[in-house]
Amino acid sequence: MNQKPEKNIVLIGFMGCGKSSVAEMLGNEWRMDVVEMDRMISEQQGLSIPEIFDRFGEEYFRDLETALLKKLRGRHGCVVSCGGGAPLREENVSEMKKIGQVILLTASPETIYARTSDSNDRPNLKNRKSPEAIAELLEQRRPKYEAAADHIVATDGRIISDICEEILRLAEIDE
Ligand code: S3P
Repeated sequence: MNQKPEKNIVLIGFMGCGKSSVAEMLGNEWRMDVVEMDRMISEQQGLSIPEIFDRFGEEYFRDLETALLKKLRGRHGCVVSCGGGAPLREENVSEMKKIGQVILLTASPETIYARTSDSNDRPNLKNRKSPEAIAELLEQRRPKYEAAADHIVATDGRIISDICEEILRLAEIDE
């Protein structure tokens, strides 16, 4: 069994960049506690993410993200898989930085399209069903993602264990 890092790791990035898969492996192989923000919010509300967007709107969902990030202060050895839009709010980014190392996962629009096109559980991709439409939103968001990141890790064409090892190496360097 690998040794669990003391520090928290906060994964950010566009939808389909692999945050949940990486968090799951860090949980299974490195025994980190996994905080899957979307899942926690959905469970708290008793509604799916699309239902929360439909009934209460995106701003309401963003408020739930902010409240959850604030609750994570004081925890250790966690990997936090953030919803793709969480770093768009400055307040969220400052909470993330208080919690741990912020790692931005990236992928090309083609990869993101391939990973997300067969699911309908992401309201912000509902009308973006092509690599071009994904690229447009990705470019709008890129400055905020990059400003929030302590480190950037590319995921295209890589196996998840390799990505996890890179993340842990980067997080250790900063300890
Ligand atoms: C969103 C990303 C989703 C989820 C919600 C909004 C976004 O999370 O939080 O649908 O605006 O980027 P994932 O990045 O885990 O898909």
